[in-house]
Amino acid sequence: MKKIGFICGSLRTGSYNKVLLNEMIRLAPKDWDTSVISFKDLPLYNYDEEGESEADSVTLFRESIHNVDGIIIVSPEYNSGIPGPLKNAIDWASRTKHKDDKSPLINKPFAVAGGSPGNIGTALGQMQIRQSLLAMNAQVMAGPKLIVGRVHEKINEDTHNLDDERTQKHINSFLSSFNNWVEKF
Ligand SMILES: Cc1cc2nc3c(=O)[nH]c(=O)nc-3n(C[C@H](O)[C@H](O)[C@H](O)COP(=O)(O)O)c2cc1C
Repeated sequence: MKKIGFICGSLRTGSYNKVLLNEMIRLAPKDWDTSVISFKDLPLYNYDEEGESEADSVTLFRESIHNVDGIIIVSPEYNSGIPGPLKNAIDWASRTKHKDDKSPLINKPFAVAGGSPGNIGTALGQMQIRQSLLAMNAQVMAGPKLIVGRVHEKINEDTHNLDDERTQKHINSFLSSFNNWVEKF
């Protein structure tokens, strides 16, 4: 079994990216043990509050990353970039509680996906997410990319599921590539 964590870049209850994330979990390879890692309880990053006295939510968030074999981030973009709460989470994960610890981001396989109501939804935001992860020497899958434009039109109004066949095909090939990517490390 591969342990694969999913992080949603949106905290919104009705988030389209949460719907996309849930569809990815539904279509995930059978040998994946999936989990959702939330950053909603993290405080705003502050150097004065890191280290031995850091909040429990920070320690837990880092441990959740450490305990999985790979992570898929599914996120919107805000103002052509990385959503602030997600960047905050990456910044916390890049630091350590004890001086001699290593960040769980180092060498961790990652992939980035996302959807937005716009046509080129999340292409720019995804680039920034990859850039921040690469700064920590995470193993970020370069491609294939999963960029779901006009995402709201691909979600069934009644079931609230993403049941667009073309998108499901893209998801399947993205997940299969990430499966191979995780096996490399
Ligand atoms: C602060 C803010 C900035 C946004 N900037 C962009 C943007 O640059 N590009 C884009 O495609 N959508 C942008 N949007 C629209 C989001 O893609 C849209 O709200 C989307 O539904 C958010 O994802 P979610 O449904 O997963 O919460 C922005 C939304 C907010 C709230």
